[in-house]
Amino acid sequence: MRITFIPIAAAVVLASVMTVGAASGQENAGQAGSETCRGCHEELFVRYEKNVHSGAGAQKRLPGRLGCESCHGAGAAHAEDPSVKTGLVTFAAGSEAESINACLTCHVQDSAVGGFERANHGRHRVACNSCHASPHARRDPITGVETATEPGNHLKQDSVELCLNCHSEQRGRFSMPYRHPVQERAIACVSCHNPHKDQAADARGRNSLCFSCHEDKRGPWPYEHAPVAEDCTSCHEVHGSIAPRLVKTAQPFLCLSCHALPDDRHGAEIGGTQYSSAIYGQCTSCHGAIHGSHEDRHLKK
Ligand code: HEC
Ligand code: HEC
Ligand code: HEC
Ligand code: HEC
Ligand code: HEC
Ligand code: HEC
Ligand code: HEC
Ligand code: HEC
Ligand code: HEC
Ligand code: HEC
Repeated sequence: MRITFIPIAAAVVLASVMTVGAASGQENAGQAGSETCRGCHEELFVRYEKNVHSGAGAQKRLPGRLGCESCHGAGAAHAEDPSVKTGLVTFAAGSEAESINACLTCHVQDSAVGGFERANHGRHRVACNSCHASPHARRDPITGVETATEPGNHLKQDSVELCLNCHSEQRGRFSMPYRHPVQERAIACVSCHNPHKDQAADARGRNSLCFSCHEDKRGPWPYEHAPVAEDCTSCHEVHGSIAPRLVKTAQPFLCLSCHALPDDRHGAEIGGTQYSSAIYGQCTSCHGAIHGSHEDRHLKK
């Protein structure tokens, strides 16, 4: 009994060692383990431990690469001699492609961010960590933001300010007299833009985006206004405008950019000359159903 038992146990142990080796031997190569990192980076370790990335979920996604090294790459050489950075992902400026890869190793599985590399930010190598705080970030007392110890998306800053930092040209638009209420924080840039995808890019996507908050403009209309069905932004300046209702230009010029005023319907003949009163007014005071109508093909009701 004894003689046969020992070899079986040994074989089981051996087999499991081999399995672990085969599955993760390469990934493990050159790793020191988080406890080693802790020796010199205690403060970061403590904050990291409170972050979602230290949980079992993160380890399950990338078996064989754990803790600090799941993002920073194999760090044994660095742990031995801190001046050595080879093999280490530092997330420093200039290494954006490598940084993005490090995060996507796991997050490529998320439908929310998986397409990042094909999206505008990804193609222009805007690194994840230019928007997201590291899992061991501090800062805050009173809105320096960062602090990655609470649940959340761990942005470096308030999300609107974050966007406006790089897209400063949009600041002017959002300071115009008529605007989507972003500065007021009633909605945010990310209510319309997914920073990991290009959802506002094409007209189709754009209209369904608008319908998500302006449901009453969704058809189908028995009498539709062609440009409305095509693209809301053919008349509206989405971020902000000097004209009320966010239209690109005030009426009647907005309408006259596409319509030659049909005098026969809008004018009065006085002494043989056609006068159009409509041109001085709001076209929509008569064509009130400008986004589509259930009953009138001239969009009046
Ligand atoms: C023996 C002490 C020690 C150990 C162990 C150690 N580090 Fe470091 N680490 C340092 C020092 C010191 C620096 C700053 C060195 C410098 O800036 O030249 C540093 C810097 C870093 C940096 C920033 C590099 C940069 O250029 O911005 C990262 C990232 C890092 N360590 C990650 C790790 C990880 C991950 C581990 C565990 C695998 C680890 N460290 C283990 C001492 C250590
Ligand atoms: C989820 C990915 C991730 C994990 C896990 C992670 N880090 Fe980092 N780390 C980053 C990012 C991103 C940066 C760059 C921060 C920035 O851009 O402001 C960074 C920066 C650093 C730096 C240099 C700057 C600083 O913040 O002081 C050190 C040192 C560091 N990490 C060590 C560690 C150690 C030690 C661990 C484990 C306790 C760890 N990191 C775990 C993503 C990670
Ligand atoms: C080892 C795998 C792994 C790596 C590498 C990784 N993450 Fe994560 N990340 C996770 C898991 C797991 C979660 C938990 C949420 C989930 O289960 O989807 C998460 C959550 C997040 C969240 C949401 C935070 C929350 O509280 O829910 C953000 C933001 C995030 N990660 C950004 C990053 C960034 C930026 C990097 C690169 C610096 C990175 N991650 C690298 C696995 C990883
Ligand atoms: C331009 C800024 C920016 C960049 C670059 C960016 N993110 Fe984000 N990310 C955000 C914002 C803002 C949110 C919060 C979105 C919201 O509230 O709707 C977010 C949310 C997330 C979430 C939570 C998503 C969810 O719906 O659960 C994860 C995970 C994440 N980002 C990972 C990443 C990773 C990984 C990268 C790089 C591959 C990255 N992000 C690049 C700004 C950015
Ligand atoms: C670190 C700088 C940076 C941050 C932060 C940033 N962006 Fe960008 N963004 C860029 C760059 C670079 C491009 C590509 C070049 C360009 O079109 O300006 C870009 C492109 C875009 C585009 C596409 C522009 C086009 O012409 O089609 C949109 C939309 C956008 N960003 C929205 C956002 C939103 C929303 C946020 C906040 C969640 C944000 N960005 C945060 C740098 C940034
Ligand atoms: C109500 C939805 C909405 C909000 C809120 C919004 N955007 Fe946009 N944004 C759009 C649409 C739609 C487009 C495409 C417009 C077009 O092509 O006429 C766009 C275009 C852009 C572009 C491409 C350049 C341009 O002007 O066409 C950038 C950059 C951008 N937005 C950044 C931002 C930033 C930064 C914020 C927040 C401060 C923001 N957006 C808020 C809907 C929105
Ligand atoms: C996330 C929700 C949201 C999305 C998406 C959205 N809007 Fe808005 N929109 C609002 C809010 C909130 C207001 C302000 C309403 C108010 O002040 O009564 C507003 C106001 C407007 C106004 C001015 C209304 C007025 O009475 O002055 C117009 C025009 C408008 N949106 C058009 C659009 C278009 C076009 C799109 C698509 C590109 C769009 N919106 C996408 C939420 C949204
Ligand atoms: C042909 C030009 C045109 C197009 C295209 C257009 N709009 Fe308008 N929209 C207007 C005009 C003009 C007004 C102002 C009406 C008024 O003052 O009576 C307006 C007003 C609005 C308002 C505020 C007043 C209200 O009726 O609620 C919203 C919201 C709005 N539009 C959303 C949209 C959406 C969403 C789309 C795309 C589905 C769209 N618009 C397409 C011309 C247009
Ligand atoms: C981007 C171009 C464009 C703009 C701007 C525009 N329209 Fe139109 N409109 C059209 C097109 C295209 C049709 C469909 C024409 C057709 O079927 O002959 C149309 C149809 C109409 C009709 C119905 C025509 C009929 O046969 O009875 C009316 C009324 C109308 N528009 C009024 C307006 C008013 C009022 C404005 C300004 C608030 C306006 N339009 C702005 C392109 C535009
Ligand atoms: C005083 C009311 C009134 C005003 C203001 C008005 N319209 Fe009209 N519009 C009408 C009526 C009524 C009709 C057609 C009625 C019919 O044939 O049954 C019409 C028809 C139209 C048609 C369809 C023409 C055709 O021949 O099929 C267009 C396009 C149009 N208007 C555009 C405009 C534009 C652009 C403005 C602003 C410059 C405007 N309207 C201002 C009352 C008005």
